Amino acid sequence: MVVLGIETSCDESAAAVVRDGTAVLSSAVFSQVALHQPYGGVVPEIASRSHVEKISGVIRDAMRGAFSTAGSAGGVFDPAWWDGIDAVAVTYGPGLASSLIVGLSAAKGLALRLNKPLIGINHIEAHIHSVFLSPDAPPPAEAFPLLALVVSGGHTCWIEMPRPGECRLIGQTLDDAAGEAFDKAAKLLGLGYPGGPAIDRVAATAGSFDAAAFPKGSTRPGNPALGALRADMCVSFSGLKTALMHYLRRRPPDNAECVAEIAAAYQEAIVAALAERSARALRACDYRAFALGGGVSLNRRLRVRLRQVADAAGVRLLLAEPRFCGDNAAMIAGLAGSGGGVRGLAALGLDVAPALETGLQMSVDFSSSA
Ligand code: KG4
Ligand code: ZN
Repeated sequence: MVVLGIETSCDESAAAVVRDGTAVLSSAVFSQVALHQPYGGVVPEIASRSHVEKISGVIRDAMRGAFSTAGSAGGVFDPAWWDGIDAVAVTYGPGLASSLIVGLSAAKGLALRLNKPLIGINHIEAHIHSVFLSPDAPPPAEAFPLLALVVSGGHTCWIEMPRPGECRLIGQTLDDAAGEAFDKAAKLLGLGYPGGPAIDRVAATAGSFDAAAFPKGSTRPGNPALGALRADMCVSFSGLKTALMHYLRRRPPDNAECVAEIAAAYQEAIVAALAERSARALRACDYRAFALGGGVSLNRRLRVRLRQVADAAGVRLLLAEPRFCGDNAAMIAGLAGSGGGVRGLAALGLDVAPALETGLQMSVDFSSSA
């Protein structure tokens, strides 16, 4: 099954063609980072306008990349290429409403015009699927039951998948996402936007991780925001950013070395929070794999710590290729080609779902853990 995927949930306009869920024939992404840079964060109006301008060209690039013998750069667009597509898949949530609507409208229009099925995809579930696009990944069927951690600018959540297609939310952030925490800190430290890569870079030059002690994202039982989730499987990053603000007021850094050490300590607090919850979840159940997805999964220190956590639990760590860590459409087309998503007439009736949840909220059953 060959699927054309479309993704516009935040600030990347993306399209891709994937065969049978994992073979990426093409992947085109237009990143809006430069447009949002002057504002230090994503501006929804600018994002949706740019999606409108770019989405047709990005879809054409993906089709050209998959079907033109001259590759994505050359070749006159041949309408016969549409015959090579079996379905159109698109993100319908979660994300920015005004951005989602651009991709969903484009996908509905294409599916109706081409008379091909439309498949609606949950963006978070697609981030989990991104690890299976890697050439050295096991076949999806061999990786379950699976624990996933999705960490990006908009999301931080732990999801348990007993089998393909079945998701249970077992933990999440109660406020800021990990990427947001990186971006806000980088702003305070004068490191620019997006902040995650900048903090990753300067932290790697620091002599120590413990120049400052930042809170490690703990949440208290009884917090109504927890819902059915356990406090020790959730994180809160908003206090971390406030702690950094107070620290910088008390002890403003006077050289680049100082900034690097503060960035490293801040990064360590986020990484420690993510590693601790991951280790707890891995101890609770016999997972066969631990999948890490989302833009923050590019963080080098996080990768090192989570590999240690996975090794200690005797579980295989699955990482996405760098080009599929951030938002992309190959993960959308891939999940659709593996049988995921909303299908049939229900898909054509989909509206955007900015706050779409992933699976039922479940507290981890720790009764079987040592
Ligand atoms: O998945 P993504 O591209 O878009 C969202 O869906 O949000 O993630 C973007 C986020 C940004 O917050 C960015 O700062 C963060 O991922 N990020 C990183 C790194 N690379 C990107 N955070 C930490 N370390 C990195 N190396
Ligand atoms: Zn994302």
